[in-house]
Amino acid sequence: MRTSAISGLTGLEKGGGSINVQGEEQKQLDVISNDVLKKALRWSGQLATIASEEEDLPVNVMGDAVFSNDIVIENSGRYVAVFDPLDGSSNVDAGIPVGTIFGIFDSAECSIEDIDLSEGIDKIEEKCLKDTLQPGTNLVAAGYCLYSSATSFVFTLGSGVYGFTLDESIGEFVLTHADLKIPSRGKIYSFNEANRWDWDPPLQKYVTDIQQGLGDTKYRYSSRYIGSMVGDVHRTLLYGGIFGYPADRKNLNGKLRLLYEAAPMAFLLEQAGGLALTGKNRIMDIPPIGVHQRVPCILGSRDDVLEMRRYYVESRDSELIARCKDRLNGAGTLNENEVDGPAKPAKNLGNHNGDDENGGSVENVSIGEFGAAQ
Ligand code: AHG
Ligand code: MN
Ligand code: MN
Repeated sequence: MRTSAISGLTGLEKGGGSINVQGEEQKQLDVISNDVLKKALRWSGQLATIASEEEDLPVNVMGDAVFSNDIVIENSGRYVAVFDPLDGSSNVDAGIPVGTIFGIFDSAECSIEDIDLSEGIDKIEEKCLKDTLQPGTNLVAAGYCLYSSATSFVFTLGSGVYGFTLDESIGEFVLTHADLKIPSRGKIYSFNEANRWDWDPPLQKYVTDIQQGLGDTKYRYSSRYIGSMVGDVHRTLLYGGIFGYPADRKNLNGKLRLLYEAAPMAFLLEQAGGLALTGKNRIMDIPPIGVHQRVPCILGSRDDVLEMRRYYVESRDSELIARCKDRLNGAGTLNENEVDGPAKPAKNLGNHNGDDENGGSVENVSIGEFGAAQ
C-alpha cells in the first residue's frame, strides 16, 4: 500500500472490468488485500470458513484446494472469519487512511474434517453459509487494522479492547492502549452529510440539534468524516463522539455491511463501553440473512448514542418502526445484489461474549432496552 503509487498497483482491477457481487468496482488493492488475508488464514490451521466483502459466497478456507489431491491438509480449524480486507478503498490511491475489519465466530460445520466430498458442492456451500450467518452476539473476536500515519491493530476477545501500534523498526506490534475505553461523551459527529436530506427525520433533527448546541450537552459539536470506516471509528473510539452510516431514503439499510463491518465494530465498541445501534436497536442482536446484507450503523460514546436513540424512540413513523422490527426478526433487509441466505435466520449457536444465553448481555448494556422494536 505504501508503495502502490510506485509499483503501479493503484486504480481499478482490470481497468474497471472487475466487479464484486455487490456491483462495486474492485480496486487492484481490494483484490490483493483479499488474497493476502485468504492465504494467511488458510495456513493458520485455525479457520474453516471465510467470508469476505470481495467473495460472492463464504468459502471453505481451503477454497478449491480441498478438492486437490496435491494438497495435504494436516489441520482443520473450528473458526469462521468474516472480513472486509480493504475498507475505505475509494480513498486508497490518495494516501488517505484505510483499514481491515474482521470478526471471528466459533463452531464451524464447514471444516475440512467434516466435509464429505460426496455431498457435492451445493451442500458444502450451504454448510459454509450456515457457519457464516451468525449474529454479532456469537462473535468470539473482532477488530481492525488501521493503515495511517501509524499502523494500529485494535481488537477484542470479548473481555475489553486492546490497541497495538506497529513499531516498524522491530517489525512488532507494541501494546499502546491497554483496556481501551471510549469516553462516555464526545464533541464530534461523523456522518456523510451530503445524504442528510434523505436521512430518517429523527436523525436529521438530532444532528441539527447538536450542531446548534441544542442537544443534552449544549455544546456545538464539530464535524469530522474521513469516509473510511476504520479511520472514523478509530478516532471515535479514542476521542469520543458519534459516527454513523445511517439509513436514508435511497438506502433503507444504509451502506455498511452487517457481517464484516457493522457487527465486528459493534462488538469492539461495546467492549470499550460504547454502543452501536441501527438508530434504535442493537446491531449485535440482528440475525444476518445474507452475507453482504447492509445495516444502518450508528456507534460511539454511550451518552451520545443514547441521546440520538431518543429521537428515534419518539418517532411514530410506522414504516421506520416496521423496518426495525423486520431487521430484528431476520427478515426483509436484503438489497438488490445481495446473496440470499437461508429462509430462516441463523440459529443462535450460543453466546461467547456475555452472560445471557438468549443473545449476549454486555456489561452496562441492557438487551431489553435495545432489543425491543417498538
Ligand atoms: P469499502 O471501501 O470497504 O467498500 O467501504 C467503504 C465504506 C466505509 O469505509 C465508509 O464509512 C463508507 O463506505 C463511506 O461511504 P461514502 O463515500 O458514501 O460516505
Ligand atoms: Mn468497508
Ligand atoms: Mn472493502
